[in-house]
Amino acid sequence: MRGTFPFGCAKEMRADPLSLLLRARASLGDLVKMHLGPYPIYMLFRPEHVEHVLQKNPANYLKDGYEHVEPMVGRGLISSEGEHWRKQRRLIQPAFHKKRLEGMARTMTDATATMLDRWRERLRGGSGGEVLDANMEMSRLTLEIVGRTLFGSALGGEANRGEEALSLVFRLGFDRAGRFLQIPFGVPTPKNLRYRKGIRDMDEIVHSMLRARRQAAPRGEEDPAGGDLLDMLLAAHEIGDGITEKQLRDEVLTIMGAGYETTARALCWTFYLLDGHPEAARSLRDELEGVLGGRAPTVEDLPRLPYTRMVLQESMRLFPPVWGLSRRLKEADEVGGARIPKGNRVIISPYVTHRHPDLWPNPERFDPERFRTATLMDRPPRGMPRYAYFPFSGGPRQCVGVNFAAMEATLVLATVAQSFELSVVPGHSVKPEPSFTLRPGNGLPVRLREIA
Ligand code: HEM
Repeated sequence: MRGTFPFGCAKEMRADPLSLLLRARASLGDLVKMHLGPYPIYMLFRPEHVEHVLQKNPANYLKDGYEHVEPMVGRGLISSEGEHWRKQRRLIQPAFHKKRLEGMARTMTDATATMLDRWRERLRGGSGGEVLDANMEMSRLTLEIVGRTLFGSALGGEANRGEEALSLVFRLGFDRAGRFLQIPFGVPTPKNLRYRKGIRDMDEIVHSMLRARRQAAPRGEEDPAGGDLLDMLLAAHEIGDGITEKQLRDEVLTIMGAGYETTARALCWTFYLLDGHPEAARSLRDELEGVLGGRAPTVEDLPRLPYTRMVLQESMRLFPPVWGLSRRLKEADEVGGARIPKGNRVIISPYVTHRHPDLWPNPERFDPERFRTATLMDRPPRGMPRYAYFPFSGGPRQCVGVNFAAMEATLVLATVAQSFELSVVPGHSVKPEPSFTLRPGNGLPVRLREIA
């Protein structure tokens, strides 16, 4: 342990956690104990410490923080532990198998093409239609894609209502997480009432999705892959495999919640960075033109689009959609020479480790070339420690949607960047705002320009 803050970092942690974490590492070192009011918290910034928590001794580090979105995710995959988690993971993981993912690529590019048609309509309509919020557009697109590929439903108008409800619940949940005194969800404060309305909206959307699927003809026969994630969950429910109606609902909302905002943020920050780095934008367009020549990308094209991958990786280095992970110790443990007592919390942060100057020269610079020697979206460049880069976490609790997200982000970026240039509206100041995901505070208003 190199140093400790005295007391009272709680206010700062709430107001600007990213600056606090960066400053703590720069001034106090790689392993910092600080107090948030009366509660000690340990921050671990080195890749080997991250590896210890996520990969070497994960059973001792319990998920923390999800209690603030419990009414939404319940005991879904992301928040559960132990045998219950293992069983759910075994059930859900096959939905993301390579063969199944390949069958989803077309839906992803079709949904993106529909969005681009809408953008063209706006451009033709004139009167300011060329300005839109890229953050919102990406959120609606990724929610629509998760809905169509995993739950077989075009959310249509519900994508807007769903996006509003999910993002409200995440925002209010994160707000709760930063407070010492949390008013129980049942007390009708204005915030709790808004929170509960968000949950009601999502419940309605999920229940109508479940109703529609149950009324539909069985799909297994005409679908050689054996149906989508919703079919798999429903089948487990019907054979009484420990999946209750409530668990079904929890898993659908967990996957929707975990699966849309993260990818939307990755794309949104990528457009922001490309706008500020015309050379990288040009290299990206050259690759897309050379490989695709204007047609929609397919699964077969993915290995031939290395620069597109590198741009996304570098964007998730600087703006990892999940900027911090919190864990609570089941038993006391020793990390990097420090003894951490049972029940204490540790924080690991892709945002800070991805900027560690011992690992990343000139860390604030956007340079996709850093990832030239990486092969997979979730891995660092060759020769670097595994946990120098971990936007999707790692170990047994690694993101179950990592390959889905890698494919989706590449296909969406390739489709959009071939046809449109997005430039941030002059004068709009963009500040990363940490909630459960890292969002651009005040959105990302961009001006569209169609590429001839
Ligand atoms: C760029 C996009 C994405 C990023 C950066 C990302 C990142 C992460 C991270 C860091 C975790 C670990 C959270 C923790 O330990 O508390 C996680 C878990 C998870 N993610 Fe993702 N994710 C992405 C996309 C997706 C997608 C597309 C889906 C589903 C369609 C998804 C579903 C999940 C689920 C269910 C978990 C919990 C897994 C478990 O605990 O077993 N994610 N993700």
